[in-house]
Amino acid sequence: MKSDRNVSYKGDRKLIVSITPHLDKKLDDPLYVQLYRYIRESVESGKLPSGGKLPAIRALAQHLSISKNTVEAAYGQLLAEGYVESRERGGYLIQPIEELWHSPAAAVSETSLSLLNKQPYGSSLIQREKAQRYEFRYGDIAFDRFPLDLWKSCLSQAITEYAPSAPFDILGYGDRFGHPGLRQALAEYVYQSRGVSCAADQIFICAGTQYAVSMLLQAMELRRLPFAMEEPGYNGVRTVLSGMDCNVTSIAIREDGIDVAELEQSDAAVAYVTPSHQFPLGMVMPIEKRLRLLKWASGKDGLILEDDYDSEFRYGSRPIPSLKALDADDRVIYMGTLSKAFLPGVRLSYVIMPRGFIPLMRDKLEAYSCSVSPMLQQAVWLFMKQGHYGRHVRRMRRVYHARYRALTEAIRQYMGDRVEIVGDSSGMHVLLRVPGRSADELIRLGEERGCLLFAAAKHWNEPNEEARQFVMLGFGGMDEEKLTEGVRKLAQAWFPA
Ligand SMILES: Cc1ncc(COP(=O)(O)O)c(C=O)c1O
Repeated sequence: MKSDRNVSYKGDRKLIVSITPHLDKKLDDPLYVQLYRYIRESVESGKLPSGGKLPAIRALAQHLSISKNTVEAAYGQLLAEGYVESRERGGYLIQPIEELWHSPAAAVSETSLSLLNKQPYGSSLIQREKAQRYEFRYGDIAFDRFPLDLWKSCLSQAITEYAPSAPFDILGYGDRFGHPGLRQALAEYVYQSRGVSCAADQIFICAGTQYAVSMLLQAMELRRLPFAMEEPGYNGVRTVLSGMDCNVTSIAIREDGIDVAELEQSDAAVAYVTPSHQFPLGMVMPIEKRLRLLKWASGKDGLILEDDYDSEFRYGSRPIPSLKALDADDRVIYMGTLSKAFLPGVRLSYVIMPRGFIPLMRDKLEAYSCSVSPMLQQAVWLFMKQGHYGRHVRRMRRVYHARYRALTEAIRQYMGDRVEIVGDSSGMHVLLRVPGRSADELIRLGEERGCLLFAAAKHWNEPNEEARQFVMLGFGGMDEEKLTEGVRKLAQAWFPA
């Protein structure tokens, strides 16, 4: 056996890293967070080399005199963020940070860009014009960082490795609830990344959040129940509710999320909420309020529709477990989407039903076929199964963090205290307001400088004057340089010298 600073080699290939962090029970952060952070920082700094294997859970627990659960929780978080990969009977392998970061698939490739930006009547002129524009469009993701080659390979494998005898027939209609393997992979993913413990048969897959809500209203017959909707809240969902003539009460948003006292006073039996990143205002609902919301649902014999659309992307703080993770009384219907963490173009989202709803879901969805192509589901499943998904999310978290920083720093530098930024440090958008000036004016002035912006007021059921001042800046689709330049242009347009 040979050894260097943190690594010992057993036999000719196994490389087990040794870890001896100082863990302190007196600190506010739980031990598993301290351990997770220690390993993450050691991997990022290169002290723990890629290809190395983390010590076995039992061995590390003994070594540090901590419980196996603590080690398991820390490893689980590292796994969810892609710092390690789990091998069957092979333990946890440290992933190559730099290599991944600069891999050919990950790099901004001309081919991937041109493919993704292809216009129906695309010409180089259109491409050049697009390049000179600053599109702060909410919904755009970092297409330039998308691992297109890996995705293409999974798409191709989905077809070429297809065997007619396979348990899941991708050439037919497929399972009406969604690809069984993908549902299992999603169940594992939400457990690791969102703390949600669910079985694959609680999940159904569908083509986006609006479709998910329609299915809940229509097939699961929730439309008969009185709804509460955040004010402001996601227009995409409000449109579906009003399109189905639902009885909807708007409940105000306070600085820590939905006003639960107001909800308690209302006659609503279902509340649609975005607790992990309120849309569009951006706050995170604190644990006390989450518990009160769950209590409201239990007391009312009601339901909560949790939209967890972009919670993978929190910058500077730990991911917050979802409301569903606290759902002891089986009251939360959880909605997740691949539109932020993966690709909006894949049109794939999923719903996790409370356990008690499984028979009803089986019964009601029997009459519908799945809205997502089985071939696409197979490709997404392969992408997850091969470990690309976890790595991709971890990489994108850094990409969006850098973009978020660039955007907010540029706003501070070029606009200073003339503007108000609203939004916690997460997700892919912020709201911006110049007190006293309307969003319409800001958008028009921005357009004159090649900046594309959108008003946020549509997310209010009844927008007041302040609401009409907010513009929404999506920052997912532009790199740091372009964001900085775009903000500089906006500052020139809004505050001419
Ligand atoms: C609040 C909210 N929920 C969900 C989504 C995702 O919707 P979909 O799954 O239809 O892409 C978005 C995206 O814009 C959103 O802002």
